[in-house]
Amino acid sequence: MEEKIQKLTSSALTQINQAQNKIQLEDLRIQHLGKKGDLTSVLKSLTQLPIEQRKKIGKLVNLAKQEIITAFERKEKTFEVEKAAWIDVTAPGVKLQIGHLHPVTAAISEIVPIFERIGFTRTSYPEVELDYYAFEALNMPKDHPARDEWETFYITNDIVLTPHTSSGQVREMEKGKLPIRMLNIAKCYRRQSDVSHTPMFHQFEGLLVDRYVSIANLKGVLDYFVKAFFGPSRKSRIRPFHFRFTEPSFEVDVTCGVCDGVGCRLCKQGWLELGGAGMVHPKVLEFGKIDPTIWSGFAFGWGVERAYMMKESLKIDDIRILYENDMRFLEQF
Ligand code: FA5
Repeated sequence: MEEKIQKLTSSALTQINQAQNKIQLEDLRIQHLGKKGDLTSVLKSLTQLPIEQRKKIGKLVNLAKQEIITAFERKEKTFEVEKAAWIDVTAPGVKLQIGHLHPVTAAISEIVPIFERIGFTRTSYPEVELDYYAFEALNMPKDHPARDEWETFYITNDIVLTPHTSSGQVREMEKGKLPIRMLNIAKCYRRQSDVSHTPMFHQFEGLLVDRYVSIANLKGVLDYFVKAFFGPSRKSRIRPFHFRFTEPSFEVDVTCGVCDGVGCRLCKQGWLELGGAGMVHPKVLEFGKIDPTIWSGFAFGWGVERAYMMKESLKIDDIRILYENDMRFLEQF
């Protein structure tokens, strides 16, 4: 009996190994393990044996069965691997997904050439910045309440995540090259997160320092940008405001693209706010080692995300969606 089991097992294993496909394998399974299979009939014949021998042979049959089942499983896996490696050259191809720039990156690549055409050069300055450049050199000494508006992330007492691109102003002046026409575009960080604020956002900052610079020059550059970026029918205006690093200071508005300045639900009175601007404060020029009796300048700092939304007349009810990596949103651009 033992010899018979051994013979059955080794012939089953050889046949399994030689099986060419799943159908043959299935036939072998029925032949060896099925209800009327070889091993099952051995088990059935055991009833005629005395109990001790029945136990011993039963054990052997079960071990043999296990060995054969394992061989089946192993062989089945080799068929699956072969199937996976098989390529149907006639099957229709899978189309490659064509990506595109994130709307904020696209906006930046549109903004840069507009300013380059009038002589501004793009620069970039550290995102992790010294408190000195972010505040002190911009006429906001330590403990000055104006700093509160920037809701800053502090790394240490003297190092911050830059809360605005104005931190590049004095760094640019320190290069010692005059006149200056700088365009600083960078990530900015503030402890703000709501429908119109993200903790990380982008600003683009212009700084022009030259002889005899006036508010008329600032207005001219504003109008030029607004028409080039938003379209020839859009207008700009400046309203008095207060920043510690510009004097006088302004808020800059652009006519609403939805109602063309008439007034609608989005803008209320026909204007949308773009950002801040002003004539560079003499103290800031001094921090930058520039003589304010000879040189003057203007600066402006606007949000890229907001400018982009205003350009496309996007009525996004939550600005944070720009950074949620939701393909259903991003694929629309
Ligand atoms: C400033 O940051 C000044 N540095 C601007 C400036 C530069 C004034 C040069 C004078 C001269 P303000 O905090 O208003 O100003 O920010 C400017 C613009 O950045 C805002 O109008 C808005 O468009 C954008 N902005 C500010 N905070 C956020 C935020 N958390 N999320 C998205 N956009 C923001």
